[in-house]
Amino acid sequence: MPRDVMNSLIQKIARQARLTFRGVGSSGDAKSFAENVTQLRKLVSEIRAEDLKIHPRSSAQAPASPPVTYMHICETDGFSMGVFLLKGGSSIPLHDHPGMHGMLKVLYGKVLIRGFDKAEAPPPGTAGSVLRAVLRSTGEYSDSSPPCLLSPHRDNLHQISAVDGPAAFLDILAPPYDPEDGRDCHYYKLLPPSQAPSPASPEQSAAGASEAVWLLEIPQPDDFWCGGEPYPGPIVSV
Ligand SMILES: [Fe+2]
Repeated sequence: MPRDVMNSLIQKIARQARLTFRGVGSSGDAKSFAENVTQLRKLVSEIRAEDLKIHPRSSAQAPASPPVTYMHICETDGFSMGVFLLKGGSSIPLHDHPGMHGMLKVLYGKVLIRGFDKAEAPPPGTAGSVLRAVLRSTGEYSDSSPPCLLSPHRDNLHQISAVDGPAAFLDILAPPYDPEDGRDCHYYKLLPPSQAPSPASPEQSAAGASEAVWLLEIPQPDDFWCGGEPYPGPIVSV
């Protein structure tokens, strides 16, 4: 492989992601994991659209084209990496990443991300498709923002919306989605308070009641689908 390809920033990111997420979920040294995440975050914060030969899209695109497209870059057992491109006005609906870590870096445009934490246990007497969660974070991210992180227990569910025109972001997920290993992607919608199950106990209603929300698992929304397109940037080898 030519030296300039070996040394591309996206190749360095892939190498660091492989190192960071090797054996996550098995035994592992928490300290070195944290150090590796810090290093990965530093590299990811430097990446720009030009490094991946990605050019900002105009908002005038064929109406029939998918609202969101994905450019696959690479995948190992430990992580997957790619770029999501959102048309202006489009959203990736609220979804989860079971048992996974994630790192997201905006390449162009601006996105609004709302992150939720799952409550520890489903409340007694509720159907399996209803979930109690807490709104953890709401923030706008642009290409000058630091990466946005999620983990198995923090900001694990999120909704991502393009703000003021098209947007794109680099996405690293570890381990990758794998329905056969319990990591399928589920979609949710917020239940209006009038449809929320009544609290099982007074303590439960008191605990964080102001932030607590109810989520209903839903099929993939009809207005959301994700197309694919080739990744135009430097070759990545993992
Ligand atoms: Fe996601």
